[in-house]
Amino acid sequence: EDGVVARARVVLVGPPGSGKSTIGRKLARELGVELFDTDAGIEAETGRSIPEIFAEDGEPEFRRIEEQVVRRAVLEHEGVVSLGGGSVLSARTREVLRGATVVYLEISVGEGLRRTGSSNARPLLNGADPVAKYRELMKQRRPLYREVATVRVRTDGRSPGRVVRMILARL
Ligand code: S3P
Repeated sequence: EDGVVARARVVLVGPPGSGKSTIGRKLARELGVELFDTDAGIEAETGRSIPEIFAEDGEPEFRRIEEQVVRRAVLEHEGVVSLGGGSVLSARTREVLRGATVVYLEISVGEGLRRTGSSNARPLLNGADPVAKYRELMKQRRPLYREVATVRVRTDGRSPGRVVRMILARL
């Protein structure tokens, strides 16, 4: 979009379990800036949890809210912005990310799933076969993460501190 310029210093993308929250927190600390987590922003704005929004209004409505919160965060927040794993599904969001520094935290299916654990906090992975679901998500999203990314970092088997140092070296 013309005239739309990201203010965010760094945007983190990647699937659930790729470490966006942990890495985001540490990276923001290292850079001396604030972290804005869009999932938390959605919950603060709606006064509801993400599972509640999915259950009450469905995924399309969640995506609509997410698109707005992400857009505002990327354009207005001057620190690190960590995006919910499905944000890149929106073509408008991908457009908003053009020109921003976007770090894709790459993770294998096995380790990503292991890190998401068995919590109920992620409605998309709550079904009968989380492994199949996660594979399907990655198949659909991998090209989108790659499209928006300016930096790609493999996180498998690496500590958060190591990942943050790798990111800092490439900013
Ligand atoms: C989602 C990921 C979640 C959250 C929502 C949907 C997804 O964020 O936005 O449950 O579609 O992958 P995390 O990537 O922080 O788990």
